[in-house]
Amino acid sequence: MTRVLFVCLGNICRSPLAEGVFRSLLENKGLDNQILVDSCGTSNYHIGEQPDPRTLKNARRNNIQLDHCARQFSTSDFENFDYIVVMDRSNLENVLKLDPQQKYRDKVMLLRDFDPVDRGGEVPDPYHGGEQGFQNVYDIVQRSSEGLLERIREDQEV
Ligand code: 4NP
Repeated sequence: MTRVLFVCLGNICRSPLAEGVFRSLLENKGLDNQILVDSCGTSNYHIGEQPDPRTLKNARRNNIQLDHCARQFSTSDFENFDYIVVMDRSNLENVLKLDPQQKYRDKVMLLRDFDPVDRGGEVPDPYHGGEQGFQNVYDIVQRSSEGLLERIREDQEV
């Protein structure tokens, strides 16, 4: 079983949506029994909460099912996951700080490393904006997920 963890700041906007979109892609390709998906946040701000209502609304609009309760990233995630996929450079910095020996450096990557439109960019935090920001997150996640899955299939031969 290959394990993929999406990481943002609060785990109520970007990463739960990424988790749902990526799982839906896996289901469509019949790979959901080979690749496990989860999400978390680097902060403790929203531990135990459901995704933001705007995230839920956007997911519904795009036919994505979400069933997630926010949790904080933990150092045990370095061992438990094969791919730690962060949304922006601040998330990247926060995760890498917890691995000072850089033992897990190769597991940690930006989602937009796989975005054919803006490779290496960030998934913008939609928390303080309107609904359009959530659709923008959805669009980015949707098109980056394909590339991420290709990368995993090359690595793991699944
Ligand atoms: P997320 O968005 O990291 O995509 O879940 C945010 C959610 C909450 C906060 C910031 C970003 N906050 O500051 O509470």
